[in-house]
Amino acid sequence: MKKVIIINGPNLNLLGKREPAIYGSLTFNEFLEKVKQKYSKVDIDYFQSNIEGELIDKIQEVGFSYDGIVLNAAAYTHTSIGIGDAVKAIETPVVEVHISNTFNREEFRHQSYISPNAKGVILGFGLQSYELAIQSFL
Ligand code: DQA
Repeated sequence: MKKVIIINGPNLNLLGKREPAIYGSLTFNEFLEKVKQKYSKVDIDYFQSNIEGELIDKIQEVGFSYDGIVLNAAAYTHTSIGIGDAVKAIETPVVEVHISNTFNREEFRHQSYISPNAKGVILGFGLQSYELAIQSFL
């Protein structure tokens, strides 16, 4: 069975409550349960942290044994050389995802330290972005 992990960065624990016009009204756990049922042939883990170093620790921990990482580093996407370097350092392919289309938002969201080291980038499809990323590993 393929082993994939979804890693979510800061403020994504507030999904469902946070700016629903942009991020939707479903909580991530509700969404995750549906995805796990739909892709029951994939072992899907989940990790969320608001702390940059914890995200780096998790990327390092899974990055030599898992088949895929679906990474939404949220605001750290645009600021974190450390997370970008971690993605570069590991062997497991990383698909960068965003719920919103970061290119039709503020200019500071157009920069990503993850993209140059990612296998691919999926953005703007709402929570479906995560599903498309999982499919890319099948
Ligand atoms: C986000 C986009 C980021 O710019 C923002 O900081 C987030 C969420 C997205 O999924 O659309 O927190 O990564």
